[in-house]
Amino acid sequence: MKERREAIETIIKQYLPKEEGMASSVMAAMNYSVNVGGKRLRPMLMLETYKLFGGKGAVIEPFMAAIEMIHTYSLVHDDLPAMDNDEYRRGKKTTWVEYGEAMAILAGDGLLNYAFETALRAFSCDGADMEHIAKALSILAGKAGINGMIGGQVADIEAEGLGDKVTLSQLLYIHEHKTAALIQASMMIGAALAGADDDALSTIEQAAYEIGIAFQIQDDILDVTSTFEELGKPIGSDAKNNKITYVTLKGIEEASREQKERSNHAIELLNSLNNRGYKNEFLTDLVKSLITRLK
Ligand code: IPE
Ligand code: IPE
Ligand code: MG
Ligand code: MG
Ligand code: MG
Repeated sequence: MKERREAIETIIKQYLPKEEGMASSVMAAMNYSVNVGGKRLRPMLMLETYKLFGGKGAVIEPFMAAIEMIHTYSLVHDDLPAMDNDEYRRGKKTTWVEYGEAMAILAGDGLLNYAFETALRAFSCDGADMEHIAKALSILAGKAGINGMIGGQVADIEAEGLGDKVTLSQLLYIHEHKTAALIQASMMIGAALAGADDDALSTIEQAAYEIGIAFQIQDDILDVTSTFEELGKPIGSDAKNNKITYVTLKGIEEASREQKERSNHAIELLNSLNNRGYKNEFLTDLVKSLITRLK
């Protein structure tokens, strides 16, 4: 994991903007937000899914950088005073605390746009397949947008303080969109760039849905059970903001049971691809490791 994470960081760094010119302060805020750390789970899932379908070559790299930029922008905006109002992220001061609110908003905008500028560079990679890249771009745009991650953040904010008026289907909408959508984008882009067919792509979309919901359930649990030192972000953020989470709706034990169940379903879906010759043990182990993750 550590080796892979370091290799991913080397790739991401190559695509970050140079801090120069009249707007260099926004570039500094963007680079701070990305470089400060994080598990790099999304580019890792993307690369491993690419390998699962036999993908080779550098065309995946700009997309790995792009997904981490979009994920990071979602965190920069998520932490703003108008949203979750959090002061620490990845063990460091959040972007708005370090650079001010206006610059954090612009750094988020900058990362979102730069993600697409970066992904477009795939067209000039050796052996670039126009159709595969177009499909990957369309997945990235859709899953990050108003019917994807942004939609989930909207529903998350609107559900604040609604207490037991929030239904399980609303909570599932929130978790599917704010979190599973970018995990789906990561894995589906890996598959699409490797030339996976529609059947395989749909299996990956379902598996990533389960991984994403399980990932957010665990995030909700850790917000209650972990520590600031371990997570690098404040615990109790959800309670502070009167968020409805899996823990408030179902309790820790039931949330934890469902987290395992969904992860196991994702593993079954990945295993179902074995008989078509698609196998990546590291990917399956990575998904298994998320079940017991502590950060
Ligand atoms: C945090 O994502 C936001 C959620 C969707 C729960 P991660 O837990 O992947 O954050 P980093 O990238 O490791 O900081
Ligand atoms: C964040 O959910 C999801 C996105 C940023 C899209 P949370 O608000 O629970 O994430 P953390 O706990 O702040 O990382
Ligand atoms: Mg939030
Ligand atoms: Mg938050
Ligand atoms: Mg959280």
